[in-house]
Amino acid sequence: MRMSHLIRAALGACILAATPALAETQLKIFVSSQHQPDVWRKMLDAYEAENQGVKVVIETGGNTSEAQAQYLNTVMSAKDTNLDVLMLDVIRPAQYAAAGWTTHFPGKDLSGYLPAYAEANTIDGEVVALPAFADAMFLYYRKDLLDKYGIAPPKTWEELTAAAKKVSEGEGTAAADLQGLSFQGKAIEGAVCTFLLPYWSQGKQLVSNGKLTFDKDAAVRSLSLWKSFVDEGVAKKNISEVATDDTRKEFQAGKVLFAVNWSYAWKHFQGPESAVAGKVGVARLPALGSGEQSSCLGGWEFGVSAYSQHQDEAKKLAEYLSGPKVSQYMAVNGALLPTYAGLYQDPEVVKSAPWFTEALPVVETARARPVTPRYNEVSEIIRTTVNSVLAGVKTPEEGAAEMEGRLRRVLR
Ligand code: GLC
Repeated sequence: MRMSHLIRAALGACILAATPALAETQLKIFVSSQHQPDVWRKMLDAYEAENQGVKVVIETGGNTSEAQAQYLNTVMSAKDTNLDVLMLDVIRPAQYAAAGWTTHFPGKDLSGYLPAYAEANTIDGEVVALPAFADAMFLYYRKDLLDKYGIAPPKTWEELTAAAKKVSEGEGTAAADLQGLSFQGKAIEGAVCTFLLPYWSQGKQLVSNGKLTFDKDAAVRSLSLWKSFVDEGVAKKNISEVATDDTRKEFQAGKVLFAVNWSYAWKHFQGPESAVAGKVGVARLPALGSGEQSSCLGGWEFGVSAYSQHQDEAKKLAEYLSGPKVSQYMAVNGALLPTYAGLYQDPEVVKSAPWFTEALPVVETARARPVTPRYNEVSEIIRTTVNSVLAGVKTPEEGAAEMEGRLRRVLR
């Protein structure tokens, strides 16, 4: 009697211990380490609480878009079943879909999102990923210093040069450590946008209807502009070694007057470790001469791995993370730009990030980098050329000619 009691109790304990493990689905999501994995974690905790039996583990890696791409390319080429949901830079869904690395979301309606993201995630009529957050490039400036010299935020790159010189002269020796402009000159993904900003400003496209429409003169002018900042001492001599987060750190340390950077920088500038909190303005990036003020569209998306063994659960998670509730939470708590236009007016969002109201028109008019399955090659050609022109290894003319030749071999 006593024995059977014990056996029953032991069996009961075994069943209790085994039940959750049996019922549990574990999902693994790859989140860019630069984009608030700890804040996404909070939303995953909420998801787990609402979806008993589902556990979500975050994997992060590489703090740049290229480092992540390199890692994910290896994982996906090996048909690894380990990752279920992948946070992808907006330039990648086309490549992933063409490689068959992500699954589709049949019948998914993307019309509620900002149009640029509905477009970036629809390849050949199929929805291949869902928007995570929006992004664009902005001009950050030292509001205190511009105010001190009565200078309005520059609307052209020429005005920016003049402003940088005026502040530098006015500050005298105090400006010895102050760079006029910081931007991305290292051969990283951001340098693709570096090249495209003044190129687009001249009304030129790189690709139209899938065909290369390279304008060599516009390319020379773009490369010459960036090189002129170095030659005139507005940017530092070794700008060819500067990556996105270097620009962010130098501006945050009070060593830069103007900085070209993505939206993530804002939160850092206002943070406790910042030397410039409360002194920062954000504006549209300047135009080249009488051209348009153009920005580069950024942003990240959720794809579901074609090798995930939990397709339905993974899609359900991606849909949740891409929904308006999470977008609002990430805007308020992670300062990530929403992918829904209406959220830019949401009282809680506006309260925590007042500048988002001005960010919406920038995101809405930002231009997309070429959408092509061969984007990796396109990117490599552009960024290495920008880098070698800035390093003085090639002239802008040589750089543009080489870029054209190489791009023609990839995009006809
Ligand atoms: C930002 C953008 C992304 C871009 C990357 C380059 O994360 O959102 O689209 O490619 O920066 O570093």
